[in-house]
Amino acid sequence: MIETRQLRKVYAAPAARRGAGAHGTSPRSTLPVSAPAAARNPRASGSIAALDGLDLQVREGEFFGLLGPNGAGKTTTIGILTTRVRATSGEAFVAGLDVAAQDVAVRRRIGVVPQRPNPDRGLNVIENLAFHGAYFGLGQAEAERRGMALLEKFEIGDKATSKVDELSGGQQQRLMIARALLHEPRVIFLDEPTVGLDPQARLALWDVLRALHREGRTIVMTTHYMQEADELCDRLAIVDRGKLLACDTPAALRAQAPGATLIDLAVDGDAAAAAERCRLVDGVSRVDATGPDLRAHSERGGEAIPALIRAVEDAGARVQNINLSKPSLETLFISLTGRKLD
Ligand SMILES: Nc1ncnc2c1ncn2[C@@H]1O[C@H](COP(=O)(O)OP(=O)(O)OP(=O)(O)O)[C@@H](O)[C@H]1O
Ligand SMILES: [Mg+2]
Repeated sequence: MIETRQLRKVYAAPAARRGAGAHGTSPRSTLPVSAPAAARNPRASGSIAALDGLDLQVREGEFFGLLGPNGAGKTTTIGILTTRVRATSGEAFVAGLDVAAQDVAVRRRIGVVPQRPNPDRGLNVIENLAFHGAYFGLGQAEAERRGMALLEKFEIGDKATSKVDELSGGQQQRLMIARALLHEPRVIFLDEPTVGLDPQARLALWDVLRALHREGRTIVMTTHYMQEADELCDRLAIVDRGKLLACDTPAALRAQAPGATLIDLAVDGDAAAAAERCRLVDGVSRVDATGPDLRAHSERGGEAIPALIRAVEDAGARVQNINLSKPSLETLFISLTGRKLD
């Protein structure tokens, strides 16, 4: 249903773009001279490869998750698939259509829920939906009929004539989903749909998304929440620095997690020397040191903790804090990216 092949996106460095306009005040000097140069040469210092040869395949009817730390390229991927961003190179297809060459046809088949709700704040709730319907060639009566049905479905039917700003964050998010569904697309893209929602609103939105999935729609969602990805998605892609690191069902990914429990130690003193000693602890397969923070991979779970504390003290340092993470999607993510998700 969705495929990307060797997708690349290079953004010109913000500094280059600023520099382009900063050489003088005459109108001619504000032409972005250096920005295209940076775009032509991805290796030009400072330009950002947001996507670096990304290959993805999403099947029809699948609930697919994109997981990655800040700046991984998730929004850029969604932007290209939804025809809002042009790829620098590579190809992307939605429902067999090339997103670059057949963008109008692609837009008819997809619904998009952006990272930040972007309703027209000058219009009320149902007017937002009617306006969107008009864009897709629906008559006003039909758009309002469909719009009301969706608002009822998402339990904000009583807000139809309210100003958008009178809706809570969760209600605005549901309005965005209603808008994305108005033209009855088979494919829906959601970029971090539950960020900023309280736990109750998040669970309510999960129910909405599960229902859309049951209706057989293809859903692509980005999220920072491991549990959300785990519970909702059929398959997950873990991306970082514009590259695909792993792609599988949540269960298969969990099974791929390193067997080790991660023990994070905040150390006061010579962390490098402490790391050396910790590497000798029985059952510890690996120790990474980043500044004063040590991360030990323990094959014996938390049992290694007393020996690790002694090893740090033997190196003349002290343990300030300890945190333990059992093997999970989270620890797989950390082992692949070196970073936590949030
Ligand atoms: N319009 C832009 N101009 C320049 N650089 C950009 C632009 N949009 C994104 N980038 C850069 O591209 C990289 C990927 O950004 P993107 O927004 O796709 O990441 P993301 O995975 O969605 O991150 P987040 O989790 O923070 O939303 C980042 O380094 C970002 O700074
Ligand atoms: Mg993003």
